Amino acid sequence: MKTLLTVALATAAMALTAPTFAQDAYPSKPVTIVVPAAAGGPSDTVARLVAEAMTRDLGQQVLIENVGGAGGSLGAGQVAQAEPDGYKLLLYHVAVSTFGALYPDLAYKPGEDFSSVGLVTDVPMTLVGRKDLEPANVGALLTWLKGDGAGATFGTAGVGAVSDLCGRLLTEATGAELTVVPYKGTGPAMTDLVGGQIDLMCDQTTNTANQIKAGEIKPYAVTTAAPIAILPDVPTLASSGLDGFEITAWHAIWAPKGTPEPIRQRLSASLQKALTDPVLIERMAGLGTAPVAADLATPAALDQRFQSEIGRWSKLLSDAGQQ
Ligand code: MLT
Repeated sequence: MKTLLTVALATAAMALTAPTFAQDAYPSKPVTIVVPAAAGGPSDTVARLVAEAMTRDLGQQVLIENVGGAGGSLGAGQVAQAEPDGYKLLLYHVAVSTFGALYPDLAYKPGEDFSSVGLVTDVPMTLVGRKDLEPANVGALLTWLKGDGAGATFGTAGVGAVSDLCGRLLTEATGAELTVVPYKGTGPAMTDLVGGQIDLMCDQTTNTANQIKAGEIKPYAVTTAAPIAILPDVPTLASSGLDGFEITAWHAIWAPKGTPEPIRQRLSASLQKALTDPVLIERMAGLGTAPVAADLATPAALDQRFQSEIGRWSKLLSDAGQQ
């Protein structure tokens, strides 16, 4: 009898510890971060900096998988519908808070089917033109857009991408009609802007700063409330007649809904440590941005930001029409 009881207690104890054992060993294989935009673009740049630093902390490769299309909603869906085991994550930005309004037939619910890990960085944006575009400055550009420049081509990463949201805000603020040219990310869009195939973009400094410094594209304005250190001579749109114009690309990491809490907390801890990495900080600074403070690289902070952003964008997107 004693033997049977001992075996039963031992079996029960193993059953109780088995799941935590799996989580204690996490990660036991490479982790994939899905970037729902083409390689070489601004979100990809942020993701690769974070992945390099998290690899050092987790002791497993953190790999990047680029899945472009539909403003990022395709790649985000792959993560929303992935196994909640901590091995497939999403790194993207404010766009995720607009997908519910812009894509009513999504196979997933952005506000419910993710498990927040934490915020990463808040990237300024720039309104930039091909280098031979006629207007010499932002004032002339805004006038041109209402006249000869009506219908100017405007590169984005697709409906709902932050480059698209910036274009919607610009149209709402000026009444200017833009001919939107969607790409699988603003990496390929930048190639066409530098090549002169499109007229304008509103893109993150992580993609535009180096091209501006190289004289490959023309900077008209920044979309932040105040000028930014790496482009001190570039005025804000808010000070150029578009009062209150402000948009930045806050980036974050999400896991699928149902990811075990110990894994989520391990990922948030790793993200917080990655954001103190001197190489990451230096590289981000050179691209016009900075990592968030540790208390923002947490699930609670991301949940709060996400909910507030849904409210902000739902009005603009419902007024402007969905697609
Ligand atoms: C966007 O939302 O515009 C995308 O982030 C651009 C990109 O990362 O390719």
